[in-house]
Amino acid sequence: MVKKKFSGDIDIIRELLEITENLSHNKDIVSLLDNILYEARKFTNADAGTIFLREENELNFSYFQNDTLTQLDENNKKFIYANSSIPINDESIAGYVANSSKPLLINDVYKLNNKVPYSFNDSFDKQSNYSSKSFLTVPLITSRDQTIGVMQIINAKDENDQIIPFTQDDLMYVSFFANNASVAIERAQMTQQIILRMISMAELRDPKETGAHVNRVGSYTIEIYQKWAKNHNIDEKTIKAYKDVLRLASMLHDVGKVAISDTILKKPGRLTDEEYDVMKTHTVHGAELFKERVSDWDKVSSEIAIHHHEKWDGTGYPYQLKGEEIPISGRITALADVYDALISRRVYKEAWDEKKVLELIESESGKHFDPEVVKAFFSIYDIIKAIREKFPDKE
Ligand code: C2E
Ligand code: SIN
Ligand code: SIN
Ligand code: FE
Ligand code: FE
Repeated sequence: MVKKKFSGDIDIIRELLEITENLSHNKDIVSLLDNILYEARKFTNADAGTIFLREENELNFSYFQNDTLTQLDENNKKFIYANSSIPINDESIAGYVANSSKPLLINDVYKLNNKVPYSFNDSFDKQSNYSSKSFLTVPLITSRDQTIGVMQIINAKDENDQIIPFTQDDLMYVSFFANNASVAIERAQMTQQIILRMISMAELRDPKETGAHVNRVGSYTIEIYQKWAKNHNIDEKTIKAYKDVLRLASMLHDVGKVAISDTILKKPGRLTDEEYDVMKTHTVHGAELFKERVSDWDKVSSEIAIHHHEKWDGTGYPYQLKGEEIPISGRITALADVYDALISRRVYKEAWDEKKVLELIESESGKHFDPEVVKAFFSIYDIIKAIREKFPDKE
């Protein structure tokens, strides 16, 4: 990562405003956080970073980047899906910044002055073998003066890749950028909320439970896509743009279930043939919701709704499409959905054990599933497991 050279303050501000403007194009909260961290790190030439978002009185570990660790092993990206939260109080660095709503510069987190109230939690370093040193931690404050989270930028580097402290200028500009980014985060959170409500209405189930299943399917789908796309030499820009629409679209795969009666949808036992035929229409009903097709997002959502039960060998529904006739979004969501359906409990079935699920997926490669998608899935299986742990079903 090469530090940008600026000729002066005005240029810096102009650049930051331009970056902010681009953030407003992100629809999806995950790709938005990815971009925000990336830009803040590029600006300060920092190796790593974390975004925490506030959930009631806690900070939830929400996004993570770390060049050193991900270059070693791409499955280290699983740390993105770490399921941890910290209380908002003065005991941790991020908690202190959220509490005070003021930015904080630390040159070496292992040499904290003993007068400060906070201490550094080294459990991540221990777990991952990483060496944290310089920190720049800024609050994420919205235009209504609410602190919605904290961004932490870690290990600034000089031209020789040596870790150096962040500067006062870094602090000033990153804070400015963080304020603008917060507005975009708030908007993306609202979009996500609206979509989750729509889904919970469609499935007429406990919104918490629905949320977990669709969050998992959405996250599996973008991670499998990213791996598949890299295997197919698709360029980074296309991957990023597609991921931005793909997660929300995949979360909506079953939204057509809104048209299926409760007696069928929630039936505890096996469906009769007639009931199953009705159930199958959730695919076409889902696609109807997006038939205006105004944006990329409508297009991909429609594709996934209609094609997520097609099979690679042409024996699926509703159109018995075969192989690459099925859009990639549908081929990936099909695997993500079946994996999650098998490994979880459903009203009509118990959870299967993991070994049995993975054997089924393997044996369906080239039949139900696209072999290339199956390959991508297995090569990022650590990330898949981390996603499951991040979004557990509520009892
Ligand atoms: P779902 O629960 O999300 O399941 C998605 C897909 O996972 C299923 O698509 C199927 O391909 C796979 N799957 C789920 N459970 C099993 C299983 O026990 N064995 C195998 N081999 N595959 C499984 P499918 O079959 O087209 O079903 C679509 C939707 O229809 C399901 O979504 C579920 O909502 C409903 N459904 C299917 N079968 C039954 C049933 O016997 N009883 C009830 N109440 N609903 C069912
Ligand atoms: C990254 O860690 O930089 C990539 C994360 C993502 O695109 O999901
Ligand atoms: C789903 O949420 O996709 C499955 C609904 C169910 O059968 O419990
Ligand atoms: Fe479905
Ligand atoms: Fe589903």
